[in-house]
Amino acid sequence: MNNVLKDVNNIQNLYNKHINPSLTKLTSFAGFGTEHTGQGCYITDSEGKTFLDLLGSYGVFALGHKHPKVVEAVKNQMDILPLSTKVFFNETQALLAEKLSALTNHKLPYSFFSNSGTEAVEAALKFAKISTGRSKFISTKGGYHGKTIGSLSVTGRDKFRKPFEPLLSGSCFVPFGCLETLKKEMDQNVAAIIIEVIQGEGGIHTVPKGYLKQVRQLCDEHGALLILDEVQTGIGRTGTFFAYEQEDVEPHIITLAKALGGGIMPIGVTMGTAEIWDKVFGENPLIHTSTFGGNPLACTAALTTLQVIEEENLLEAVTEKGNHFLNGLNKIVQKFPKLLKEARGRGLMLGIEFIIPDSAELTIVQMLKRNILAAYTLNNPFVIRIEPAYIITEEEINRALKAIEESVQDVEDVLKSIDVL
Ligand SMILES: Cc1ncc(COP(=O)(O)O)c(C=O)c1O
Repeated sequence: MNNVLKDVNNIQNLYNKHINPSLTKLTSFAGFGTEHTGQGCYITDSEGKTFLDLLGSYGVFALGHKHPKVVEAVKNQMDILPLSTKVFFNETQALLAEKLSALTNHKLPYSFFSNSGTEAVEAALKFAKISTGRSKFISTKGGYHGKTIGSLSVTGRDKFRKPFEPLLSGSCFVPFGCLETLKKEMDQNVAAIIIEVIQGEGGIHTVPKGYLKQVRQLCDEHGALLILDEVQTGIGRTGTFFAYEQEDVEPHIITLAKALGGGIMPIGVTMGTAEIWDKVFGENPLIHTSTFGGNPLACTAALTTLQVIEEENLLEAVTEKGNHFLNGLNKIVQKFPKLLKEARGRGLMLGIEFIIPDSAELTIVQMLKRNILAAYTLNNPFVIRIEPAYIITEEEINRALKAIEESVQDVEDVLKSIDVL
């Protein structure tokens, strides 16, 4: 296995022949090799180069790579019962549902378990449809909710949606944070508004204070549901367990995934109120199911992840480290006013927005040369997202900031040399 792994060209060849030729070109053009192993905040490629991971698989590695407590718990569970029969009760699933409910102060006492963010969103859309008897969804421009047919229907980027139309009929998109446009779209057909608390793939955008509370009021006035997609913002990424806690809003449904599996197991969850669960499952308890959803390995990973976040006071750490990181990014923005527009975000969900097309991508390549891993946001290539592990140290943040500054400088020098700046 190791011999094969060391042969980078062979791996790329296999990707080209058997996985995705265009992606192979893109990945190798950007300078990525073959990943081999990860530990803490670092990922090492098959040539032995080690990178500080600021991307964290788009928010998955909240505890870093291979957190020892999560690894140990999952290994133990492997010896007991890795997957579920689906007909017996399962302890790990029950305990996780109880824990998640407690984290919402039992406002959302029910959980449906799946394996990814997009599945969590699919379930949320289905639950909203069946419990309201309506079919229109309002989502946001630039919003990202996944790429299966249902979640794609509410993902706010034409580039991903158009080739697959017609999608779910009746979905529409409003500017993120604009209440007036939302009011115009609200009517008696709206099943739900689905929205991220902070737009992740849209470019790390926050909403004005009070906006989400007003969105909930609007939902109540029209008998619609509020679905908050916390797939990326949830599990502490913004400094509170759920990002909505900072917005003084109560959702009817939330979706979680990514970080919940502790960087070890994939897991998705759709949480909702007792009323919704009654309407969804009351008559037919098997109306929505998943073979692998809620499996013991994933639930054990999630339970241990929640425990580690609490035991190691990681929520506080996220806020402190996030502030330090953002201050540093703001200084860099001030230094390059022609190239950089803004640094923003909350906790360790940060973004730095570029002004010139392609300059974010060029900066990422320069960062990679300095052994720092980052990427731009999927729906907005002007923004480099920064989502490191919560265990990142101040020293590592300072190293990252230095590398970002030097990389932006390199890009500015090149752009000046060709008269673009
Ligand atoms: C807010 C949000 N929802 C849903 C998804 C889809 O998750 P997945 O890629 O696990 O299907 C993502 C993925 O980035 C996301 O950021």
